[in-house]
Amino acid sequence: MADQTGPNVVLYTRNGFAGPMATMVREQYPPAYTSVSGSYAPRILDLHGLDPDAFADPRALPVAVLSDAKFSVEVNYRREPSPFALRNVFADEVHVILGGTATLETEFGVLAVEKDDLVLVPRATSYRFSDITGELREAILVSETQLTSVLEVGLGPLKRKTTPTPYADPSVRSGGYETVIRHGEEFTSVFTDYDPLPTIATDGATLVSKININDLRSIDMGSGLLLPPLLFDDHTTNTLIYDLSARSGDRPPVHCNADYDECILFLAGPGKWGSVDKPGLITHTPKGFPHQGPVENVPEGYRAILIETRSKLRVTAAGHEIAQLAETDQYSVHPSQTQSV
Ligand SMILES: [Fe+2]
Repeated sequence: MADQTGPNVVLYTRNGFAGPMATMVREQYPPAYTSVSGSYAPRILDLHGLDPDAFADPRALPVAVLSDAKFSVEVNYRREPSPFALRNVFADEVHVILGGTATLETEFGVLAVEKDDLVLVPRATSYRFSDITGELREAILVSETQLTSVLEVGLGPLKRKTTPTPYADPSVRSGGYETVIRHGEEFTSVFTDYDPLPTIATDGATLVSKININDLRSIDMGSGLLLPPLLFDDHTTNTLIYDLSARSGDRPPVHCNADYDECILFLAGPGKWGSVDKPGLITHTPKGFPHQGPVENVPEGYRAILIETRSKLRVTAAGHEIAQLAETDQYSVHPSQTQSV
């Protein structure tokens, strides 16, 4: 809170990290607000807080908690394999595994997934989870604009990238199978008398891949500010996903993003990002809302990702069940909300 006594340098940014920036020196601390009236406000959502009964039916589909037409954050809890394959034909999906383990079966092969994996499933790829242990919990980042996994293993921060392995038995499995095609907000089922997923061999570009957030080295740049590593690129720049794990450097200044909503999804400790210390918490700061955010130089370490999107995210009805108003200094629940409860 010491930063709340001025003067404060306030950064105004166009186009996220890429555009012109301007600074103001102000006596006020712009993130501070006493209350809000209306829906346009920063929030913190607990992605583990949805009612598990909503997912009890194996046919249950992911639930959006933050969304607009081009991008959404969705949640899925699953104890049993789904009785169908899913194919999103209008959007790419990054599955962020929050808990449990499973085998992800895709047309490009199979992948074992575990907590803190970030799995890119490009649009028009059929997939299904099997061999679930515990409860598979995931946040799914659903993007109408194309997402590309840009970090490769080498001299940069990434130590490992995993791609699907061939099916142990790709022979035709007969029986009744269903593929649910997701086209925007609508769903169509296609039925076949064979399993549509197994593939004998693949070649060419790697389209399905996963990285684990714990396989990223942190880069020590001493003091100053450093752009975080970009994990998933979008050539339209609508939605960009970065590693925002603990790192050296100065605390970010107070800033206001003119063009981007900002979400930070906390994945793992042991350290804390300000007041955020529970895996599965996600903050949402809408564009044009002043914020600072806590110190990122946390010696104990933590793992988090940053999602920047031009989309105008709204908290959905399901999202409101798990959302609380947030202050934007340390990202704790806003005092106006704790006082009223
Ligand atoms: Fe920010």
